[in-house]
Amino acid sequence: MANPIRVAVTGAAGQIAYSILFRVASGQVFGQDRPVHLKMLEITPAMKALQGVAMELSDCAFPLLTKMDLTDSAEEAFDGINWVFMVGAKPRGPGMERADLILGNGPIFVGQGRALNRGASDVRAMVVGNPCNTNCLIAMSNSDIPKDRFSAMMRLDQNRSQSLLADKSGQPVSAVTNMAVWGNHSNNQYPDFENAKIGGKPAPQVINDQSWLQETFVKTVQNRGAEVIKARGASSAASAANAALDHVKSLIQPTPAGDWNSVAVCSDGQYGVDKGLIFGYPIQTKADGSYGVVEGLPMSPWAKAKFDAVHEELRKEREVVKHLLK
Ligand code: NAD
Ligand code: LMR
Repeated sequence: MANPIRVAVTGAAGQIAYSILFRVASGQVFGQDRPVHLKMLEITPAMKALQGVAMELSDCAFPLLTKMDLTDSAEEAFDGINWVFMVGAKPRGPGMERADLILGNGPIFVGQGRALNRGASDVRAMVVGNPCNTNCLIAMSNSDIPKDRFSAMMRLDQNRSQSLLADKSGQPVSAVTNMAVWGNHSNNQYPDFENAKIGGKPAPQVINDQSWLQETFVKTVQNRGAEVIKARGASSAASAANAALDHVKSLIQPTPAGDWNSVAVCSDGQYGVDKGLIFGYPIQTKADGSYGVVEGLPMSPWAKAKFDAVHEELRKEREVVKHLLK
């Protein structure tokens, strides 16, 4: 058997983690031949609930789950880890925007960025806790770990987009490829139907309805999180966990030729974005495990205006948290 992969999950007694933990322990992310050592982080008042989650994990008798650590210390949780799902943060309630969480949740990522620094030399961190792009920026800025090891989750937006385009075109979800969601996981994100494909053809050729694409499609994806909160009374959990798993898989498995996935990564200036912002880009992962931003995708003036708006929004979020950046 290979060495166990050490995976930390923060907010481990919360809704999203309740789905992530079981699927990671079952081998769905890192492979059926890779044992898993789970390191679960919670705040002190949630430790009892976390013990309950650990009991349930134990009761699943997952053959790959070799060890579980439960802790309220980020340093302990991050000691020697290979991956961390940074989920632990408050969710928004009805009527709130994700950015309204920034001053409450941002400081969590200062301490955890520092803790990553001390505990983990070979780690990759993905951020789910909202507002995830800017929280990722905070964690990255407070850490000396290479910037390309940090990412934030746009995958729920990608999956929502693919599902909607499949539904509208009457084609299976698997036919929808090349789905980039640019910028921020916010209601200004830009799900790029212009470069998406359905059955290998440009999406606007297959769905010949520009007003549906520009208005209904874009707005539905942008507002889907709020709609789920309105309907469920709580923010998306199983679909968010599923997206977190897809996100990690898309960074550790080679991307099928010609396709891409949406991941928010540290900008190196691609498409004119400020260097250092955590920006949602189309990403391809190579066979050697490295990844890169897909460059040179065209955008209409209409799309460029959406892109510029979300870029500006991320600049503003960075300004709001500048006291938390190193
Ligand atoms: P939840 O309230 O059910 O769980 C959050 C957990 O985090 C709680 O158990 C809480 O005790 C814990 N926590 C809080 N502060 C912590 C800290 N400093 N260290 C460790 N744990 C801490 O919420 P949830 O539904 O699991 O959502 C978690 C976050 O994910 C929210 O911010 C939500 O908005 C966000 N989210 C993001 C996406 C996305 O696409 N990026 C999708 C859905 C939800
Ligand atoms: C989502 O997109 O479902 C999450 O970010 C939760 C939220 O606040 O919308």
